Amino acid sequence: MHGVWANRWTFILAATGSAVGLGNIWKFPYITGENGGGAFVLVYLLCIAVVGIPVMMAEVLIGRRGRMSPINSMRYVTREAGLHGAWTGIGWMGVLAGLMIMAFYSVVAGWALSYIFSTGAGMFAGVDGENAGALFSGLLGNSEKQLFFHSIFSLMTLAIVAAGVTRGLGMVARVLMPFLFVVLIILLGYGIVKGDFVAGLHFLFDFKLDKLSWDGVLIALGHAFFTLSLGMGAIMAYGAYMPDHASVGRTIITVGILDTVVALIAGLAIFPIVFGSPGLVPGEGPGLMFVSLPVAFGNMAGGQLFGTLFFLLVSVAAWSSAVSLIEPGVAWLVESKKFSRVGSSIVLTLFAWLGGVASIYTSFMFDTLDMLTSQIMLPLGGLFIAIFVGWLMRRAIVCSEMDAEGHPLFDIWLFIVRYISPILVALVLVFGLYKKFAG
Ligand code: PHE
Repeated sequence: MHGVWANRWTFILAATGSAVGLGNIWKFPYITGENGGGAFVLVYLLCIAVVGIPVMMAEVLIGRRGRMSPINSMRYVTREAGLHGAWTGIGWMGVLAGLMIMAFYSVVAGWALSYIFSTGAGMFAGVDGENAGALFSGLLGNSEKQLFFHSIFSLMTLAIVAAGVTRGLGMVARVLMPFLFVVLIILLGYGIVKGDFVAGLHFLFDFKLDKLSWDGVLIALGHAFFTLSLGMGAIMAYGAYMPDHASVGRTIITVGILDTVVALIAGLAIFPIVFGSPGLVPGEGPGLMFVSLPVAFGNMAGGQLFGTLFFLLVSVAAWSSAVSLIEPGVAWLVESKKFSRVGSSIVLTLFAWLGGVASIYTSFMFDTLDMLTSQIMLPLGGLFIAIFVGWLMRRAIVCSEMDAEGHPLFDIWLFIVRYISPILVALVLVFGLYKKFAG
């Protein structure tokens, strides 16, 4: 009833469109900066490899089996396995988490939108770290402006979701993702030539264990879920629109690698600029991207043009991710037959928009929504999905949905999903939360 992606590549691009977003370009560099670099990056990469990618396959598989919204797909596989209806809660929590993420995501996307205009107007010409910092603080102090761009971004998202993602999204991803890649490479080039590239490299990849806390490990794990759009049904919803015969394994590995490469390039572009600019520090916080990159654009040939293009592309990347934050809930409302697709989209976008307004006016709201979703709800969702697919679904069904009969890697994957991913997530959640709230 929702439509199917044209082919395997459209699915890959749409899933990549969901995965690659502010998480890679804005969040990854700034949390890396706040958590001391090297060791944090390594833990993050480990989480992607042994938790993120295997659980992503599990999540897509449930969607493909159920072929409906995450709530109803969970209901279907739960019945099929003869289990208690409470397992449907994975879907419910996901829909809620999606709206909660959207409530701060669209605020940050609004910042990116407003930077298209600031850069385009040449506001950053010749700036140094301090000036760029002041300009960003100016935006944070201007609630009306944030509200305006937050609303524009919400409307943009509403438009695509209302039109139906399988129709609206494939093209966007096909054309714009490669563009984003190219502009990131150009920025990387700037970082290498003009920034302190060696310092940036050391910061990102030197393994300094003493800089890493349990809280940092939890943040890295949570970010692995966030950046892969995992644990809240987004990728499950997209899996439901997947063609019948497509290898889930290869497809998801491609998505995971693309997402990781974009994050690493963003880091390699941003940190050399930070270290090459007096007045900038890696632990800048959420403003890192909005302060360091304008310094590069303000001081490079053609920077006005490239800067405008860059923030345009970041906005588009955020746009294709935001769509997947709302889609699970909308698909569910549509299935309930009480609302049209347009009506459902309006209702849910409005909810998220209100949360966004609250995030603009109180930074406590912004931080809490981010923390609750990334560090608790997404890992919990992933944990339950791993347990469900690893232990409760029939092996024959799992194998046939993976399209992996007789594939040698299937057993390894199943082992990871049964033992490694759940144990790791559970450990990190328990220790991380204990340290955060009690230690
Ligand atoms: N993965 C997106 C990003 O990195 C954010 C996202 C999270 C999208 C969860 C959908 C679901 O920007």
